[in-house]
Amino acid sequence: MADFVLAIDQGTTSTRAIVFDRGGAVVQVAQREHEQIFPHAGWVEHDPLEIWTNTEWVISAAISRARLRAADIAAVGVTNQRETVIVWDRRTGQPVHHALVWQDTRTQPRVDAMAAEGGADRFAEVTGLPLATYFSASKIAWLLDNVPGARADAEAGHLLFGTPDSWVVWNLTGGSRGGVHVTDVTNASRTLLMDLRTLDWSEELLAIWRIPRAMMPAIRSSSDVVGEMAMPGAARELPIAGILGDQQAATFGQAAFEAGESKNTYGTGNFLLVGTGTDIVRSQHGLITTVAYRIGNEPARYALEGSIAVTGSLVQWLRDNLGIIQTSQDVELLAGQVADNGGAYFVPAFSGLFAPYWRPDARGAIVGLTRYVTRAHIARAALESTAFQTRDVVDATVGDTGRALTELRVDGGMTRNDLLMQFQADILGIPVIRPKVVETTALGAAYAAGLAVGVWKDLAELRSHWQEDRRFEPSMSEDERRMRYGQWQKAVTKSLGWVD
Ligand code: G3P
Repeated sequence: MADFVLAIDQGTTSTRAIVFDRGGAVVQVAQREHEQIFPHAGWVEHDPLEIWTNTEWVISAAISRARLRAADIAAVGVTNQRETVIVWDRRTGQPVHHALVWQDTRTQPRVDAMAAEGGADRFAEVTGLPLATYFSASKIAWLLDNVPGARADAEAGHLLFGTPDSWVVWNLTGGSRGGVHVTDVTNASRTLLMDLRTLDWSEELLAIWRIPRAMMPAIRSSSDVVGEMAMPGAARELPIAGILGDQQAATFGQAAFEAGESKNTYGTGNFLLVGTGTDIVRSQHGLITTVAYRIGNEPARYALEGSIAVTGSLVQWLRDNLGIIQTSQDVELLAGQVADNGGAYFVPAFSGLFAPYWRPDARGAIVGLTRYVTRAHIARAALESTAFQTRDVVDATVGDTGRALTELRVDGGMTRNDLLMQFQADILGIPVIRPKVVETTALGAAYAAGLAVGVWKDLAELRSHWQEDRRFEPSMSEDERRMRYGQWQKAVTKSLGWVD
C-alpha cells in the first residue's frame, strides 16, 4: 500500500496541497494565493479559473517537492472554504460569473425580504442555520437572477452549482469530459438548502429560493471514495476519498470526534466547533447547528459552531489597507511594543457580526481613542478582538451545552502568535492548547481520505497521532479579565445599527 496521502485545501485566501505520511506528519507543502476581488463595498469575489489553475499547480509542486511519484499516494482528500458559491456550465467548464465568497453581503436585501416574510429563523428547524447572507442559498439565487441567461440554462440542466470542493473535484475527475458532481454532508449543511435530518436537499427550500435541483451536486459522506483523479505519468488513477468543509476538517484533524470535544481554528475568520455526537442540538445562544462528519454509511455526527467572520483577515487589513505592518507576522512585533491596548477596542464587523450576534447592521468600529493611542495599540486591539470574539462564542457554547469548557484546543496560522495565544488564555480563564501540527485543516481531509482506503484503521489510530506543542495557562486576574471583557462588550454595542 502506498504510504502517503495528499490533501488539497482550497481556502479563502490561498490554495494548498500538503503531503502527509502515515504518522500524520507534514512531508511537503505547496501554496498559492489567489486574488481577492472587491468590486463594491461588501462584495467579495474569487476567480474560479484562477483557483483551478492554482490547484493543479500546487498538487504537482507538492508531489515533486516531496520527490514522490503519483503511485506513492494512497488517496486524495479535499477541504475548502465553505458556503462560497460557484456556478458553471457543464458543457464548457466555464464559470458563469466569479465565485461569490462567503463574506459577500450583496444579498442582504433579499435576505431581509425573506426574514420579513417569515422571520430570521424560518429555516433553522430544517437547516440548523439562521437566515444570513453568509450561507450559499441567497448567492445562488443572486446569480440566477442577475447573470443574463443563467436561469434558463440552469433550468435546461446546463449549469452546475458547487462550493469550492465540488468545483475542484469536478475538474480533478475530468471536468466537461465527465467530471463527478458531488459535495459532502458538511459542505451541504452550509448551503441553507440541506435538511439536517435526511442529509438530502430540501425540495421545499429549493422551491422557495427558486433553485433547480438539476444544479445541485450529489451529497456524499465525508470519508468515502467519490471519484478517481488522473495524474500525468501515473499507471493508476488516484481515489478522491475524503471531502470536508475546512472547519469540520480541522475538527477531524484535531481528533475531536466525540460529543463534547471541541477546537477553535484561527484563519481568515475564527470557527469554534463543539461536537454533539449523533444528536442535532439547537442553539439558544446564537450558534449554528452543522454536520461535523460522516464516515461511509455510519450515522452523521453533528456539532454546534460559533462562526466569527473577521479575525486573521483583520491582520491582512492592517497590512494591506492601513500599511502599518509589512507582513502579517509583523503584527506580533508591533503589538508587543506596548503592554496593553491603551484603552482602544477594535470591533471588526466588516461583514456585520456573525455568531453569536448575527447583526448584519453592524460595521467596524475602533473605540476608546485618545491622543495616547499609537499604531502599536491599534495592532494590539486588532489581535485582542480575535480573543474577545472567541470568548463571545465560548460563552455561547457553555450556555447551550450547560458544560464549562475546561481547555481550548486551537489550530490555524494565527496560533503561531504566542502573544495572542497568551491573551486568549487570559481572557477565557482556561488553558489554550496548541498541537504540534497546526495545519489540522489539511490533516483532517487527509485523515478522512486515508480512512476510506485503509491507510488508517480507525479513529483511535488517528487520535494516537495527536501531540501537544504548547499549553498557555491563564495568568490575568479575575478582576482585570472582567474589566477588559466588559469594555469589549461595550465596544460591540457601538458597532451595532450602523447600517439601516
Ligand atoms: O465558513 C467560512 C470558512 O470555511 C472559511 O475558512 O479558513 O478559508 O478562512 P478559511
